[in-house]
Amino acid sequence: MLSLPTQDDLANEVNVGCATSPLRLESKHQHTSRCSLRVDSERSERSTTGPDDSPYMQEPRRKDVASEVPRYLTKMDKFVIRGGNPLVGTVRVSGAKNAALPAMAAAILTEEPVILEAIPDVRDIQTERKLLESMGAEVELGYGRAHHRTSICCRNLSSPEAKYELVKTMRASTLVLGPLLARMGVARVSLPGGCAIGARPIDLHIKGLEKMGAQITQEHGYLEAKTDRLRGAHIVFEKITVTGTEDLLMAATLADGETVMENCAREPEVADLASLLNKMGARIEGAGTSTIRVKGVEKLGGAKHRIIPDRIEAGTFVVAGAITGGDLIVAGCEPTHMSGLLSKLQESGVKIRTSEDSVRVQADGNLVGADVVTEEHPGFPTDMQAQYMALATQAEGTSIVTENIFENRFMHAQELVRMGANIKIEGRRAIVRGKTQLSAAAVLASDLRASASLVLAALVADGETIIDRVYHIDRGYERIEEKLRGVGAQMKRIGEMLPKKSGQLTGATA
Ligand code: UD1
Repeated sequence: MLSLPTQDDLANEVNVGCATSPLRLESKHQHTSRCSLRVDSERSERSTTGPDDSPYMQEPRRKDVASEVPRYLTKMDKFVIRGGNPLVGTVRVSGAKNAALPAMAAAILTEEPVILEAIPDVRDIQTERKLLESMGAEVELGYGRAHHRTSICCRNLSSPEAKYELVKTMRASTLVLGPLLARMGVARVSLPGGCAIGARPIDLHIKGLEKMGAQITQEHGYLEAKTDRLRGAHIVFEKITVTGTEDLLMAATLADGETVMENCAREPEVADLASLLNKMGARIEGAGTSTIRVKGVEKLGGAKHRIIPDRIEAGTFVVAGAITGGDLIVAGCEPTHMSGLLSKLQESGVKIRTSEDSVRVQADGNLVGADVVTEEHPGFPTDMQAQYMALATQAEGTSIVTENIFENRFMHAQELVRMGANIKIEGRRAIVRGKTQLSAAAVLASDLRASASLVLAALVADGETIIDRVYHIDRGYERIEEKLRGVGAQMKRIGEMLPKKSGQLTGATA
């Protein structure tokens, strides 16, 4: 599916400038949040291990660049990457986007402020901020101060609605459905529609909420839901769904009576959400296992919570170390959340050493192919499949990559082939034959994780790769070019101003 940004999507991007020749323009990261920021007295709270220790925290705040883009222009960023450098040193991981998004939605459940630390500075978070603000919430994204501390207050929710303009750019916007129904008894949420990596229905969210007593109708592309009060129910998910589990979990916290959910997602992000909800006064047991029990309460209150490290960002860096034959420490992560990936990399000949909060990856260029099947947690994550495929192109022998979660998640393969990879797609299987010398090319990012795989391929390609449409990667990776440059990658962001076209489309992806 064609997936271009709207002017609104691009407003948050950085480094406004005219088309520039590669490797001349310095990347300038500027903060774009329009929220007022608190004073920096919290800076001294920096820990030595967490994402807040990042040197990026020390940068001056960005000024809002949106107003600098003339209305008749859109801005398209690209990455220019010159391959060949092994990555050496320490790279730090940010807070998990996929844990931060439900945590922000959880703030809807209470009138009191919810303080979240380690919220990553990525575009999906900006979208969630816009979504919550459009409902009447007060959101302060506190980038630039210690812990990336963010506060959300949903005291006055005047408009319990998630509009299409926001849901279409980020499917996780549907996470507000459960909390709105539970707190307000009413919700109007746009259907997400298709996206770049498959159909991605939300039927299981709807069925679960109906079982809890919600009346849900569909009109003009919107779900209209209402209830006097949700009631506890016994819900067995037909299929494991991460945001589905999170949506119903939030709804159940304020339901009348006990909810038992079976065949739940066991992802660490679900357990992190439950931990926040319990701090808010919820009574949840079993999150992180396949059966979750929730005793509904009358009211939830405010809380302070630190978001878990991003296991997918960490995994991407681990693969970056491995593919470049580097010696990289990925710091501030949670290795126990990455077992599916790490054991597969060891099978491929990568030396992995873990500590409580870091992974050291060492590789000498002698990788061997290994088959991968994507599964729900704790199996190999679908969000690491594209990055693993880039690695497999550099491994001796054949690797068969089977995608079991999403039906259309091989779009990166054709771009990798353009760079010289030998990949054949057969339905849900990709057969990767290595080792092939990759050569730099102009390539197109098609979704968030596909973009990451192209970055990884470019790090070992011969010459300068130009990756177009990096707004996809900005949805989920915090300043990836700065982080990778810090450990030796030759990588720049360049901005290009283009005439604005009407009717541009934007795809929602993982
Ligand atoms: C979440 C993650 C995404 C990750 C995915 C799978 C967030 C914000 N996103 O997405 O990065 O790739 O988990 O690990 O956390 N399904 C249905 N009906 C539903 C819901 C899902 O059939 O109502 C199907 C989907 O089409 C898919 C599978 O279930 O085939 C898993 O999807 P799901 O776990 O819901 O993915 P997301 O929660 O959207």
